[in-house]
Amino acid sequence: MSAQHGTNPLGSPWPASATLVGGEVRLAGHPITKLADRFGTPSFLLDVDDLLTRARAFKTAFDEEFGRSVGVYYASKAFSSTAVLRWLRDEGLKVDCSTAGELAVALAAGVDPADIGLHGNNKSRAELTWAVEVGVGRIIVDSLAEIDLLDEVAAALGASDVPVMVRLTTGVHAGGHEFIATAHEDQKFGLSVASGAARQAVERIAALPRLHLVGLHSHIGSQILAADGFANAARVVLELRADLQGEGIAVPEVDLGGGYGIAYLPGEQELDPRVAAEELAAAVRAECDRLGTDVPEVSIEPGRAIVGPAMMTVYEVGTIKHVQLDEGSRVYVSVDGGMSDNIRPILYGANYTARLANRSSTAGSMPCRIVGKHCESGDILIPDIDLPQDLRAGDLLVVAATGAYGRSLASNYNQIPRPGVVAVTSSEAREIVRRETIEDLLRLDVG
Ligand code: LLP
Repeated sequence: MSAQHGTNPLGSPWPASATLVGGEVRLAGHPITKLADRFGTPSFLLDVDDLLTRARAFKTAFDEEFGRSVGVYYASKAFSSTAVLRWLRDEGLKVDCSTAGELAVALAAGVDPADIGLHGNNKSRAELTWAVEVGVGRIIVDSLAEIDLLDEVAAALGASDVPVMVRLTTGVHAGGHEFIATAHEDQKFGLSVASGAARQAVERIAALPRLHLVGLHSHIGSQILAADGFANAARVVLELRADLQGEGIAVPEVDLGGGYGIAYLPGEQELDPRVAAEELAAAVRAECDRLGTDVPEVSIEPGRAIVGPAMMTVYEVGTIKHVQLDEGSRVYVSVDGGMSDNIRPILYGANYTARLANRSSTAGSMPCRIVGKHCESGDILIPDIDLPQDLRAGDLLVVAATGAYGRSLASNYNQIPRPGVVAVTSSEAREIVRRETIEDLLRLDVG
């Protein structure tokens, strides 16, 4: 396929190589109609260059601002496939997993187990056993009971020096534009710094010769658009670290988690990794200075910010219905997917943007509601959006920024096969996650 790029980039929040040529959307030069014909709809389309540029931006910014190598653990829950994890590994990223399934994909991708972190608030004995057996680089423990379970697992395997981090609840809550510092978090993750549970966990680990404390971990939330929440959490972590080091317990590393926010709508600003890195590095240096400690090794766990904006979903328009309301009317535009490939609008009230993708239109615009094909009236992808008045069945719509927590949260509701993921570069387009088929669904039904 010719690699001719359009000259008219769509801009944020669209993938970097999305352009418009004669009214048709192209991705890395590939016309959307050709991609839809070849791979079907709905499909997730991944702009590979955009993904890698984002990965590089995080790695470079954090390495440079901290003046040392920062471990960038890609949070694979955002989207995991062997191809993506391999590409990210080749960019120098490591991988954050939170289940045996995510660990399996990372190992199948050939990621060095030493470069994998395993999270989870309810890890099973089997998961812990597997992690110790393969030599995962860090197990982030999330409860006092887990520490004892991990010690038992290590004993059963005759393992020593099992690398452990402690997941802290720092009392800093962040998400969206705001953060509120609270004394305690009413949630299932982590061990509270304020209540002393975190210190208890660390002391327990220090007393168990098979376990080896490698660091403290904090993750404060997701889709965070200001860096101050991260800096506040870092201060809490560093203060605990200083106390522990004062007691002779070494804490070589601090992981400050993920949560870097992205743009979903035109005009929204993502949290620039350079700005975040600069602010965090300054906060960490200042706090270590104040506490009179060395600066620890630092790692982070971005997921959404790496893969989110690099994918868009292409749908085909089906039924268009004009519904009379008491006041005015509403145009319901149905597409051939919906809540099974993007649950985020329903689950979080998340906003997305969409556009006509297969042609230009000179018709005026009409307010529409884009809905899916599920037997659920709440199956709404975009509640209010302007689309051309001549929109018709068979047109293609693309929805931006669906890469994170899109395919990974997909379901088979209504026995709908989940869409494939197509990796697109200027030289090729190929499925990296195959579209499911009805046969796939029936295969699990053992009668
Ligand atoms: N590290 C830990 C320990 C996490 O729990 C998470 C996300 C991340 C890193 C990555 O966060 P990110 O950089 O992707 O924001 N399903 C929700 C998001 C849930 C995030 C869960 N943890 C959504 O669709 O918005």
